[in-house]
Amino acid sequence: MQFVIDADHESLSRRAAGIIAAAIRAKPDMLLCAATGATPTLAYRRLVEMARGESLVLACLRLLKLDEWGGLAMDDPATCEAYLQQHLVGPLAVPPERYVAWDTMADSTAECQRIGRYLAEYGPIDLAVLGLGANLHLGFNEPGESLYPGPHIAQLSESSLAHPMLSVARQRPTCGLTLGMADLLRSREILLLVSGRHKAPQLAMFERQRISTHCPASFLHLHPRVTVLADVEAASLLEIPQ
Ligand code: F6R
Repeated sequence: MQFVIDADHESLSRRAAGIIAAAIRAKPDMLLCAATGATPTLAYRRLVEMARGESLVLACLRLLKLDEWGGLAMDDPATCEAYLQQHLVGPLAVPPERYVAWDTMADSTAECQRIGRYLAEYGPIDLAVLGLGANLHLGFNEPGESLYPGPHIAQLSESSLAHPMLSVARQRPTCGLTLGMADLLRSREILLLVSGRHKAPQLAMFERQRISTHCPASFLHLHPRVTVLADVEAASLLEIPQ
């Protein structure tokens, strides 16, 4: 596992965008799994700028929505759908046939099966861009006695229900819809983005390299190709030399 510490959120985001762009150049029909939330927004903006300014071929890029708030209407401004439409799907003009996304209006169990079938047939994920949850969740793989390998309906923790994304939600989510740990660990490459002083305790806990279902992110230590991109504030409690 490689830790790269950048000066601030801006430089972390530029680096992340560069890594995503390089992955697209290397494999234009790659399957990009994208987290939502505050951390990756600037990286996605920088990626979109790169795509506009350079000859980044996006004609075959496939995009997979990592997770979604169950129980919210698809047009609720708090959905991961609204986020991805705004930050990636729209600006990168990803057409519906190359965008694989949880539908909150469909039957949730059927959605898990549908996403699972897609990954079995067209996976694995080439590059997963992930964020670190306040409770160390990955996607909506929530801390607990056990974790789920595949796409599943998650019982959301109070910590996840306090996520700032939900401040604009029209209603409270009833569950999470998310890829499972095996789906993520089968990714060819993983980028974990961690930014801000408020994530320093979580990143320090993650760095301890103890693997526990109570710390879902810790399972990334089992993956051969993970890059943790953190800024100085998030890395302020790390023991690794900076
Ligand atoms: C969102 C997601 C979550 C977030 C995590 C960090 O799609 O999967 O796991 O990545 O909660 O969120 P931020 O970046 O807002 O701190």
